[in-house]
Amino acid sequence: MGPARHRRPCPALGRLRGAGYLLLAAALSGCALDGALAPRGSGAATIAGVWWYMFWVGAAVFVGWLAVLGWGLLRPRGQEAADAEHEARVHRRFIVGGGIVLPVIVLGSLFGYNLSALLALPRGGDVVVDVTGYQYWWEVAYPEAGFVTANEMYIPTDTDVRVRLHSEDVIHSFWVPQLGGKRDLVPGHVNELTLRATEPGRYLGECAEFCGIQHANMRFEVVAVAPVEYDAWLDRMARPAPGPDTPDERAGHEAFMTSSCAACHTIRGTPAEGRLGPELTHFARREWLGAGVAPNERGHLGGWVVDSQTLKPGNLMPPVEVDARRLPQLLTYLESLK
Ligand code: CUA
Repeated sequence: MGPARHRRPCPALGRLRGAGYLLLAAALSGCALDGALAPRGSGAATIAGVWWYMFWVGAAVFVGWLAVLGWGLLRPRGQEAADAEHEARVHRRFIVGGGIVLPVIVLGSLFGYNLSALLALPRGGDVVVDVTGYQYWWEVAYPEAGFVTANEMYIPTDTDVRVRLHSEDVIHSFWVPQLGGKRDLVPGHVNELTLRATEPGRYLGECAEFCGIQHANMRFEVVAVAPVEYDAWLDRMARPAPGPDTPDERAGHEAFMTSSCAACHTIRGTPAEGRLGPELTHFARREWLGAGVAPNERGHLGGWVVDSQTLKPGNLMPPVEVDARRLPQLLTYLESLK
């Protein structure tokens, strides 16, 4: 081999190296499991159990058949015909064992495990939350406390929360990978899913059913807090909007009520009672804008108000025509809605 041959890239070697990187990436990501494989809710833990069961059974079957394949390839040659009848018996055993007995055991145990997991999933619950899917955001209503919010859902830890799922337009799917399984939101039908968070935290939720151009930006957050903190949150959220207190907030409030904003959004305690877009009564308490498209910060908020289509093309909010001098006041008012 001359030195030139060493420098010539070998495509097969390149592919092999690519596969190696992929494996390395997979192994590294496995070190920091997230999502459905890092359950923080009893439903998700049960589902993750099924996943791991399938993984280990699949891995065992794979390794077993690799061993059989290796044995077939590497065993000494020339002995096959020595005892034809014995050979035929071995073949029959392989076909019956590997083709019938093993699949019945593997699939039967998987079926049994699945069934027991299905029965172990949490059901019902005393805390009721109504979640309604819209293109492309989530309305979250607390019927007992009597208020509505959007894209952020607080729940108490170690409590079964009965989530009733509705849709106003097309089929969406409600999924909080760390807390529970997926469930569709179907127009004209109410589905239910019970969430039970075992640890406090903020958990990403997303729409898991293609519902249009901004399906990927239809996210929400489930915030699990201690029951005492949850009660305090309910109390605060049930109150009408605060203010406006300062001259800027008052001017911003005036701008909101006299522009197209009030036609689509509700701010409880004000004349704004629109129902087309998310309720904004305690808007400034939310972490995200546009169902997870950008952090709820002044710069993004200004961009969103003036032309949300730039941040989230295809969402249903039209650009708002607001005088450049009044925009900062409008933002100040929105930021006061705590
Ligand atoms: Cu809603 Cu996808």
